[in-house]
Amino acid sequence: MATVNSSTLSARTEKKASLASTGPLTGGSRFVRALLRQPVDCTPVLFLRQAGRYMPEYQAVRREHSLLEICKQPALAAEVTITAAEKLDVDAAIIFADLLLPLEPMGLDFTFQAGEGPVVHRPLRTAADIDALRTDRTEDLRYVADAIERVVAHFGDSKGMIGFCGAPFTLASYMIEGGGSRNYIETKRLMYSDTAAWNALLEKLVAVLVDFARQQIEAGADTIQIFDSWAGALSVTDYCEFVLPMTTTLVRRVQSLGVPVIYFGVDTAMLLPAMRETGADAIGLDWRTPLDAGWKALGAGCAVQGNLDPIALFAPEKILRTRVAEVLHQANGRAGHIFNVGHGIVPGTPVENVQRVVRWVREISAEMAAQRSSQGGAR
Ligand code: CP3
Repeated sequence: MATVNSSTLSARTEKKASLASTGPLTGGSRFVRALLRQPVDCTPVLFLRQAGRYMPEYQAVRREHSLLEICKQPALAAEVTITAAEKLDVDAAIIFADLLLPLEPMGLDFTFQAGEGPVVHRPLRTAADIDALRTDRTEDLRYVADAIERVVAHFGDSKGMIGFCGAPFTLASYMIEGGGSRNYIETKRLMYSDTAAWNALLEKLVAVLVDFARQQIEAGADTIQIFDSWAGALSVTDYCEFVLPMTTTLVRRVQSLGVPVIYFGVDTAMLLPAMRETGADAIGLDWRTPLDAGWKALGAGCAVQGNLDPIALFAPEKILRTRVAEVLHQANGRAGHIFNVGHGIVPGTPVENVQRVVRWVREISAEMAAQRSSQGGAR
């Protein structure tokens, strides 16, 4: 096993080294090139939650297996990932998994309740609960890396491969609240009233997440996307005081494993400069922030993922196309834009609209590039 993984790693690392040394528009997937802010022929496009419940192929697999069964059987997880990426013709595959998977080897059992999302059976309440969490069983998550290996073997360099994990705050909130939350009262209560226990929890999470990311990178992930889906529940002060330091540690440690990091959160307009301080290579913008304003708040030196409103995928063709064009015009051909939705695709989304968006992104961004080069030539 170790031999297989280290050889995969060296193959991917060599690929990255050659990518860094090649000239414009050669080598590496369009997705990876954009992530590294290198020139691309047209804007790469993919979707958060692209393999999930809106897709009939996923629903068919889901009728036979639970969500966790799909996650834990690499052949199934790889199949769902590959089918979606091919059907949509996107530039990157995102491994089919869930944010909550690391809770299990840490000692917290959970289930997915139909229509309600995840439910953690015995949520964390005390410092003793946090003490009891284990950080030595990340090997149990190997099934995610095994699925990534299969997807990479299928696509080679033709598509990017995205591995992912939750960010410390968002995972801690699930562990403490026991599920989704509106006001994050228990999470913030612990954060404010027992900061030592809070920091101990985040430290344990970072230890597990770095190991988990390492497995995914060794299996061939080109990047790790860190989902801080609920960071927008924090004030800038609380984010900076209680969350930014350990999130920065996670980002830096994943980067030191040799891949760029995409850091995504929702409702983050005011948090963007602080999120940038983590040093992430790319920031995922939610759909509320105009992309140009978001990029300005982040400053140069950072790639941007986003940020079509996923509900615009329900709009009539004309409006949807206008919204897609708006995002691309706001990005204005700057190196480092990865087109995406500004939060996950929801159930019921018409698949053909998602496919149309992929075609339009390529068409419009290639036209914009041609215009720029003809204007450049005339000057
Ligand atoms: O659609 C895909 O591409 C699947 C891969 C994927 C899943 N979860 C599978 C899943 C990804 C990238 C995730 C990440 C995830 N999980 C996040 C971060 C991304 C985000 O949207 O903010 C979060 C917060 C979770 C936690 C989670 N898992 C919730 C809140 C829920 C229920 C509601 C929901 O959004 O779907 C889940 C269940 C879940 N995870 C489903 C899927 C396909 C749906 C349930 C099912 O099929 O039974």
